[in-house]
Amino acid sequence: MGKSPLVRKLYHDRLELHRLDSDDAIADFKNEVARGLSATPKRIPPKFFYDERGSELFEQITKTEEYYPTRTETWILDRYNRDIIQASGQHPTLVEFGSGSSAKTRLLLDILAESSEELVYIPIDISPSIVHEHSQKLLEDYANLNIRGLICDYQHALDELSRHTQSPKLFLFLGSTIGNFEPDQASEFLAAVQAAMGAQDHLLLGVDLVKAPEILNRAYNDAGGVTAAFNLNLLARINRELGGRFDLNRFRHRAFFNEVESRIEMHLESLGDQTIEIEALGSEFSFAGGETIHTENSYKYNYLSLERVIREAGLRIRHVWHDPEQWFALNLLAPA
Ligand code: SAH
Ligand code: AVI
Repeated sequence: MGKSPLVRKLYHDRLELHRLDSDDAIADFKNEVARGLSATPKRIPPKFFYDERGSELFEQITKTEEYYPTRTETWILDRYNRDIIQASGQHPTLVEFGSGSSAKTRLLLDILAESSEELVYIPIDISPSIVHEHSQKLLEDYANLNIRGLICDYQHALDELSRHTQSPKLFLFLGSTIGNFEPDQASEFLAAVQAAMGAQDHLLLGVDLVKAPEILNRAYNDAGGVTAAFNLNLLARINRELGGRFDLNRFRHRAFFNEVESRIEMHLESLGDQTIEIEALGSEFSFAGGETIHTENSYKYNYLSLERVIREAGLRIRHVWHDPEQWFALNLLAPA
């Protein structure tokens, strides 16, 4: 915005964003919604939260007083960024899964940018708008930065990565986004990252830890209703993209800590019996009053459960940094 054509061209040379699966993305959305709303209990995977509006709402969540994970992880990165870069080898290429606004990544780029060498950053995210917007801003702020982003699902990105990267690499998976996988899937995903790692590469993994249920429940039920809007946007997205007929006033956001499973569960609860048509699927789906669509799990780990997931993936912990209250852990991992 407001840049001269020359400046834009200069940025352009430093920016490559590959959109790998745009044709598949809509088919994937259709299939998962059809499958998930036909299942008992109903469920839709959380990756579909992140259209343009969903990414905006997530950014707003990170700024609420109740949602502690972002500011806690930011505190750790701000305090230990120099140590993290030092421990992860000389001048790595940064490869980030679920990069979003890359706000926390800046704390690592600040250290890397102190040397005059060229920097390479590979953001990977399913949400095109957030990667486009923040790539521009990063290029404005870091003169020696080159961005080679992948706009796609993590799984697709892993297949592509070997063609795009040079070692040494520092992979980033921040925000406790690993918590949105089931623990088995988390290990499988980390094992796939491990397979893409060279002997000198590292993975910096941000993980939210178990804490008092009141704190967890508040973080997913903010008083301003931002998390509720984020959850309900999934129905709005089905309406927009698949011709759904959901009335957002007839569903409500529910989020609670399930202590047995050690996870926050997010659901959308039907306020009364109703049948919803989704045009693009040529189907109708019936909801009983009180029935829910399970939209997200956010697992909260302890050091033991975390260590198990990491070990099963063929990785080892080289260093852990945390905040003084031990609410959040930043783990530097290497191939075992
Ligand atoms: N790393 C940022 C953003 C976390 S939100 C932070 O810590 O604040 C999770 C991000 O992962 C979103 O930007 C979302 O678009 C992306 N995402 C979610 N599921 C994904 C998937 N399956 N493949 C690729 N990106 C995904
Ligand atoms: C991206 N992910 C780690 C967030 C979380 O906390 O599980 C998504 C989120 N859902 C509700 N609030 C934030």
